Amino acid sequence: KNTPVKVIISPGQDGPVINRHIFGHFAEHLGTGIYGGIWVGPESDIPNTRGIRNDVVEALKELKVPNVRWPGGCFADQYHWRDGIGHPAERNTRINVSWGGAPEPNTFGTHEFFDFINQIGSEAFISANVGSGTVQESADWLEYLTATGSTLAEERAINGHPEPYDVEFWGIGNEVWGCGGPFTPQEYITELKKFATFTTNYNTDVNTKFVAVGPDSFDEFSFGYTEAIMEAWANRTWTWNIQGLSLHNYTRGGYPPEIPATDFNEKQYAEVIQETLGMDEFIAENRAIMDKYDPDTEVSILVDEWGAWYAPTEGTNPGFLQQQNSQRDAIIAALNFNIFMRHAERVHGANIAQMINVLQAVILTEDEKMVLTPTYHAFRMYVPFQDATRIPVSFDAGQYQIDDIELPRVDAIAAKGKDGRIYVAITNIDPNNKASFELPLEDYSIKSVEGETLYASEIDAINTFEKPDNVAPEKIDTKVSGNKISVTVQPQSLTVLEINIK
Ligand code: AHR
Repeated sequence: KNTPVKVIISPGQDGPVINRHIFGHFAEHLGTGIYGGIWVGPESDIPNTRGIRNDVVEALKELKVPNVRWPGGCFADQYHWRDGIGHPAERNTRINVSWGGAPEPNTFGTHEFFDFINQIGSEAFISANVGSGTVQESADWLEYLTATGSTLAEERAINGHPEPYDVEFWGIGNEVWGCGGPFTPQEYITELKKFATFTTNYNTDVNTKFVAVGPDSFDEFSFGYTEAIMEAWANRTWTWNIQGLSLHNYTRGGYPPEIPATDFNEKQYAEVIQETLGMDEFIAENRAIMDKYDPDTEVSILVDEWGAWYAPTEGTNPGFLQQQNSQRDAIIAALNFNIFMRHAERVHGANIAQMINVLQAVILTEDEKMVLTPTYHAFRMYVPFQDATRIPVSFDAGQYQIDDIELPRVDAIAAKGKDGRIYVAITNIDPNNKASFELPLEDYSIKSVEGETLYASEIDAINTFEKPDNVAPEKIDTKVSGNKISVTVQPQSLTVLEINIK
């Protein structure tokens, strides 16, 4: 029997602001994530603006992407920024050692990246090279980007950009305990101090946040990073500081990833959801360590790589990490958004891995074709939560069980948007049963309610170039009686209600 779940929304005890950077993206030089996915070159027949695909830019604008992390990933620690500036015909071609040994033509470099984020209205999260780069190289790159009146600033102007760029985040390496090092925590701390001391932002319009590498939920070599870095931070000298600690956590069931992206059964669905819900504990553990050293939250958590990592699509280069994206991935996205928002006091950013054509992508392209994935729609539906104020909710999540796997049946979160409206996101994890909800909004009087839902009758339903709207959001009916909203949602669905209050 579908007894309605009562969601009690408690205004007056407003939570923290949900930092819009929680909805950030990650775009690495990997497979066709950049070349083909974003960059086609100015000579291409695919409609583009200065080499950047117009269709992709239009689609991304809808997501109000707050920041894009670039150029990696593992690629960041082999990337030398000077390879990617100057006349395109004179740029070095390198081998992308991390990802399939593909040639890296460097036609998409610093200026092209900033052109791209400006076209989509986003901000920069640069990952600098610690593994194979030097402190001087890092210092020069940020000076090139942000200075006025120096030789490097003049070089930037000659290359087409007299104004300094805004750099919101500066990552000091990536996964330095693995592909970006490998360093023990203490070895990295020595590097971190040097890179953080000598890399300077000269653009006074922006407070660049420096981000240290933290642990991965899965990699044993990264264990102990949070404790060691926070201890070093608490005992730091005046010369250096960090404002962020990066956490990585993929949903992948081990390595090499073997979970199928499509054609999976209900048990496989539940296993993946169970793993993704582990994000909560991973953040909580790291948050507790950080609270000890940093009770005033001067250092944020940035989960700057997260998402589902499945077995690669058959017939593709396994080094390109190409996979399909189904309704299951939209549920994964929603559950992770909710976890990040519940930790919004400390989690001030997160980046889906990755933006286009790689892992849990929001967009897939092939030549001139483009399709929006279910994960794209989840991001779009959650836009009103960017910079909204979290409102406490309480509800009985119930239970969905298959064999020995027990999961919550539903999830819900609420926030007051910048437009003054109340937004409630509801996820029905249960793939077999509808779920009804009642929201008695005792403290508000309701003017109107609108809702959008993302549902597919098959949990592994996907969008393809031939059927791009197979999984797409639709309006959902709600009933308002007095101050109570009632809504019934489909199995395996996510829904966002927009409540206009008087
Ligand atoms: O996103 C793919 C890879 O996963 C990144 O390059 C690396 O940082 C992580 O291991």
